[in-house]
Amino acid sequence: MAVRIENETFYLETENTLYQMKADCRGVLKHLWYGAKTRQDMEYLLDYPDVAFSGNPYDAGEDRTYSLDTMPLEYAAEGVGDYRISAVSVCHENGSCVLDLRYESCRIVPGKYSIPGLPAVYAGENEAQTLEITLRDAVSGVCVILKYGVLPEYDVITRSAVIVNGGKQPVTVNRAHSLCLDIPYGQWEWIHFHGRHLQERVPERRPLLHGIQQSSSGRGTSSHQQNPTVLLCRKGCTETDGACIGAALVYSGCFQTQIEYDQLNQTRLVMGIHPELFCWELAPGESFYAPEVILSLSDTGFETLSHRFHRIIRERVCRGKHKLAERPILINNWEATYFDFNEDKLLKIAEGAAGLGVDMLVMDDGWFGRRNHDDVSLGDWNVNAAKLPNGLGRLVERVNAMGMDFGIWFEPEMISEDSELYRTHPEWALRIPERNPVRGRHQLVLDITRPDVRDYLVGAVSRILQSANIAYVKWDFNRSASDWYSALLSAERQREMPHRFVLGLYDMLERLTQAFPNVLFEGCCGGGGRFDAGILYYCPQIWCSDDTDAYERTHIQYGTSFFYPVSSVGSHVSAVPNHQTGRSIPIRGRGVTAMAGSFGYELDVNRLTEEEKEEVRAQIRAFKEFGPLIHNGKYFRLSNPFEENVAAWAYVSEDGRQVLVQGMIFHAEPNMLRSPLCLRGLEPGKRYRSREDGAVYTGRALMDAGILLPKAWGDYVPVECYMEAVEE
Ligand code: DGJ
Repeated sequence: MAVRIENETFYLETENTLYQMKADCRGVLKHLWYGAKTRQDMEYLLDYPDVAFSGNPYDAGEDRTYSLDTMPLEYAAEGVGDYRISAVSVCHENGSCVLDLRYESCRIVPGKYSIPGLPAVYAGENEAQTLEITLRDAVSGVCVILKYGVLPEYDVITRSAVIVNGGKQPVTVNRAHSLCLDIPYGQWEWIHFHGRHLQERVPERRPLLHGIQQSSSGRGTSSHQQNPTVLLCRKGCTETDGACIGAALVYSGCFQTQIEYDQLNQTRLVMGIHPELFCWELAPGESFYAPEVILSLSDTGFETLSHRFHRIIRERVCRGKHKLAERPILINNWEATYFDFNEDKLLKIAEGAAGLGVDMLVMDDGWFGRRNHDDVSLGDWNVNAAKLPNGLGRLVERVNAMGMDFGIWFEPEMISEDSELYRTHPEWALRIPERNPVRGRHQLVLDITRPDVRDYLVGAVSRILQSANIAYVKWDFNRSASDWYSALLSAERQREMPHRFVLGLYDMLERLTQAFPNVLFEGCCGGGGRFDAGILYYCPQIWCSDDTDAYERTHIQYGTSFFYPVSSVGSHVSAVPNHQTGRSIPIRGRGVTAMAGSFGYELDVNRLTEEEKEEVRAQIRAFKEFGPLIHNGKYFRLSNPFEENVAAWAYVSEDGRQVLVQGMIFHAEPNMLRSPLCLRGLEPGKRYRSREDGAVYTGRALMDAGILLPKAWGDYVPVECYMEAVEE
């Protein structure tokens, strides 16, 4: 049993972890433990000091040692004497903001709960159990239902919360975090993933300082600047040693992760929708559903944690026929042509690519309205006849005739002021009355909280998808959102807009992915500005970054790999000098880097030399052969490119018999020994033969001593080594 209750103590057990909590005699739900399986009631760890200025609930009588401000709580509420960061804040009709949450009931349900309108981990009845605990504020009747999805075999626990107005008066929810996790002991550090456009998900590790540390987004998207994932780790935790906890929010909008290190050196982590850009009016009888957090814990370092997140996201967040299927190798025309293309140019690119073995042509931005520049036509989703005089259908047919599939780009949530749509429906753009809106890339954001806007967009995208044999959609979003106001909502509800926007996005994605189950959807937001588990529920891959420079990509993909599986990372070989950095990296190095993802090209293959074309052919052959190992194998970070002169990673098959090492040595070092690179995840007693030179090594030698990296001559030298276990 994954969930059991013994002596009022809840035990949530996965293969390697135990999560424990208890409702005490006053009905307060205390958090007792998240860690290794101890087979122990962990309540003995709780201490009750009499801490001045940490008050006591009235029903504790004269007991000055019972304080909500000092004890580990399962879901901390505002206004009841716990002065740390809270998970939930609800304001009542009389203006007071308090929830005195006490245990009311629980139920255990087979399978994994789902969340109406929101993405969430899904699982079979035999794979998961759900625990629901209802806490109630007696005065107002407001309840919080805490939901726990326990997936033992995945070593994952998911959490979510539902706020139910069970009272007679309306209330306002000002904060409804998905996760509250108290860790009363130990010295912890945190790692968050920050960045900017063209440089996403840079890991930053810091000790916890007393007070509050935060990573968040207020941009309407999960953002390039901070990712909705976080790691807590013990000091000294490494890839392979030490305790760490990972949390990934399954949400694509404004979020907040806060960690408080309190007066008693206790740690509290909360995570959920950003409360500064949120509130929700709840009439009596109504409920609010918070998004989900995926939680896992490892006592063998980050690697184990990453493997768990990769697996759960790939197998139980991503959906549809493409989630585990081999992904097409695609060629995207964006960096080859930008807006300057027509049917002829596309066909030439397609022809060249087909000859090299590419599976799909993706027509990027610029095919609709009068879109010759980025200041026009968003919203007008009809084919530009000047560029495609024979229509989309004919273009697709000709591409299909070359043996290639066809994909297309959209940016549905946006509108250009210079568009037919804006001239007809200026009120559909997000805009605050009497104020000028903020422009981003010259464009405005559509009010997709409105059902009529969503219907228009789903209709427009559907018409295009029905008009030709389209196998792939790239769904882009090229600015941060702002001007949160909708004419359809009352003044009190305007702060619901950022969350309603995300619900609107999910509604459209759900409708379209259900209506077009064969189409592969790839998420995008100026590269990786909306790279999160929420999007992956609809789109099994996301364009990882607009930075296609392979050196930069080794860093971006390293940071991305802590939570997200390789198959989710859209990654292409582009031209040199690189369009973002001016750097020139030989094509082999660009190839191995782009293969660490859902692979493709982003250049005009006709401009390659014969030698480069031969290399592209070889890359495509390699990806066709190794793609299943790359996407289904376990991924190992073998170096830290932020600190070392090499970026190296490996994929090891589930049975430990195949290993592919790839990477890049950044700079040649003169007069120096070749460095060894230690592998991981192999069978120590097995012997592995290198395909390159036939040399045989024991797994133990490969892991303890390593392979020698090639001698670098010049910069950005690729590392490639494939080995298979020898039949003994
Ligand atoms: C941003 C994307 O990340 C690019 O790949 C490209 O699709 C452009 N938008 C098109 O506007």
